[in-house]
Amino acid sequence: MSNRMWGGRFATGPDAIMEEINASIGFDQRLWQQDIRGSLAHAAMLAETGILRKADVAAIEKGLKTVAAEIEAGTFTFSRALEDIHMNVESRLKDVAGTSAGRLHTARSRNDQVATDMRLWVRDTLDAIDTQIADLMTALAEKALAFSGAVMPGFTHLQSAQPVTFGHHLLAYVEMLGRDRGRFADARARLNECPLGAAALAGTSFPIDRHMTAKALGFDRPTANSIDSVSDRDFALEALAAASICAMHLSRFAEEIVIWTTPQFGFIRLTDKFTTGSSIMPQKRNPDAAELVRAKAGRVIGALNGLLVVMKGLPLAYAKDMQEDKEGTFDALQTLSLSLAAMAGMVRDMEPDVKRLKKAAGSGFSTATDLADWLVRVLEMPFRDAHHVTGRLVALAAERNVGLEKLSLADMQGVEPRITDDVFGVLGVERSVKSRTSYGGTAPANVRAQARRWLKRLAAPRKA
Ligand code: ARG
Repeated sequence: MSNRMWGGRFATGPDAIMEEINASIGFDQRLWQQDIRGSLAHAAMLAETGILRKADVAAIEKGLKTVAAEIEAGTFTFSRALEDIHMNVESRLKDVAGTSAGRLHTARSRNDQVATDMRLWVRDTLDAIDTQIADLMTALAEKALAFSGAVMPGFTHLQSAQPVTFGHHLLAYVEMLGRDRGRFADARARLNECPLGAAALAGTSFPIDRHMTAKALGFDRPTANSIDSVSDRDFALEALAAASICAMHLSRFAEEIVIWTTPQFGFIRLTDKFTTGSSIMPQKRNPDAAELVRAKAGRVIGALNGLLVVMKGLPLAYAKDMQEDKEGTFDALQTLSLSLAAMAGMVRDMEPDVKRLKKAAGSGFSTATDLADWLVRVLEMPFRDAHHVTGRLVALAAERNVGLEKLSLADMQGVEPRITDDVFGVLGVERSVKSRTSYGGTAPANVRAQARRWLKRLAAPRKA
């Protein structure tokens, strides 16, 4: 049997393998709400403009609500022979609404329909993701405030560099996530134009009101070029690009959690809620959730690459290739959502080992820069000379196998005779972080102020 939605010129039905490769209903059924929302807006516009009779539109609207209720209740049977969500809904509409159903597709094509559905789905999902990012930022800022003064080693090259505070480190991720929110908001703003009414690619001869459907669906305006309307997937690409950057941020943090929870580092502890055991090694506490967040970034980035490759060779306007936008987009945004939830859970769960962090903060001659700065400030040495003198003192301490603060004054004066007792004041890690009061620096007072600023911003309602 030929397809009842488009089979007029076809004598027989498709080969089984044709049907299998062509069908998208297995994954696009999740667009059902957006599809029905779009159809309701389209039908109302067709009535308002007099393109359809009110009675037909009333039957269509009633029928669409019945179909929605059936899908919601799980009693709807999706059919692969009907290819996709659009034709599954419309076919069922014919059963429940009779001949009026056949008029719904006036001045519309599946090309503008699917573009509209996808924009609505991506927009809905970005709104949910924005809320989740804000929640993760709140969890981080709260933890940062609680540990604004907890000293830990700051790293470059994963080598001890200078002492920082745990709160300051966490707030670095808050900054990244704040930019992620900005990127999603930018993508959402550009996405928010309605392709419905572009029809197949050229627009339509019916006197439709695209401004009306755009407004009904919460779009800022209709898209301006009908060819672009059906061939554009930038909105999905932008969402995936923002998602990829965000997933990369989560992955970096996840990697730190993996490192920090090793017995060798022991910087933080996750409770049983966020660790798993090993089936053979009874002592193990594995940070699986963090490892999975780290790995899932690969899927998100993969979806971006996948869709870029799908789109790069397509002539205008629509091509069936574009049906391949869906699985990757759905999967990537859902994966990001799960990763955000897992990260928020881990942040709230994690307990830093403050004593251990402090001890580690002092290792690796981490206050060497403070010593060099003292030589500059007190002895008025040029920084380059101070750097050199400090290097010699570090070498001496390494030779003696002690920290800088444990060198004797005599030892120090052996390298630079003008050094006085006063220098020991700057060699402690607490003093070191307290002195970093420059804007954006790690001084606990700065960290508290920044954490409070974020918490205030995050609690305020977001401007549209
Ligand atoms: N399932 C299709 C998709 O996802 C809908 C559009 C089909 N359009 C067409 N001309 N065959 O892209």
